[in-house]
Amino acid sequence: MKIAPSLLSCDFSVMGEEIVKMDKAGADYMHLDVMDGHFVPNITFGAPVIKTVRKYTDKPFDVHLMISEPLKYIDDFVDAGADIITFHIESDSDPVKTIEKIKSRGVKPGLVIKPNTPASAVFPYLKDLFMVLVMTVEPGFGGQSFMADMLPKVAEIRAEAQKVNPKLLIEADGGIGINTIKQASDAGVDISVAGTAVFKAENPAEAINELKNLCC
Ligand code: DX5
Ligand code: ZN
Repeated sequence: MKIAPSLLSCDFSVMGEEIVKMDKAGADYMHLDVMDGHFVPNITFGAPVIKTVRKYTDKPFDVHLMISEPLKYIDDFVDAGADIITFHIESDSDPVKTIEKIKSRGVKPGLVIKPNTPASAVFPYLKDLFMVLVMTVEPGFGGQSFMADMLPKVAEIRAEAQKVNPKLLIEADGGIGINTIKQASDAGVDISVAGTAVFKAENPAEAINELKNLCC
């Protein structure tokens, strides 16, 4: 299991230092939650902030766009240093055009599904994706309870991806911690996003280690 700490739970006044801390603690990716106050009822940060903190690590930036019109802003997030850009199938942007745009800029594309969206919604796009992100909470806020009933979607996506894109990575996001990560791992999740579980831990390195050890 790879771990992607969600910077949503960090101290924004020292975001760069928080990234360094997570890098040293063994994070595999940095998960950056971009919210526009329209697609979700919360506002976080955008491309200028991501650009400012890019220099603090060489680990890949996994940028999760919870915004209504991702296509309009792909260039900005690529220029800011995103390595992976995931956007919601429920957004207003055309999925094919948005995936093409991300790829044309040399960045890895991913699609995200909210809890009420079936796995089949991403099937038509699987062959062109690097990642599918399955939300295990309603997007918008950290610290919510894990929705275990989302996990069957992971197997459904995996089965379909075996036919067209066996290398596809599946990420889960929301409510993942020591009590829930084993379920995600058993379901076939490759990357777990963890906000509260790592940032509120006294020792983030131990927390990341423990999360990984629970997955064997
Ligand atoms: C929710 C975000 C998540 C969130 C995870 O909309 O996409 O990345 O920060 O936080 P925890 O791990 O606290 O649920
Ligand atoms: Zn996220």
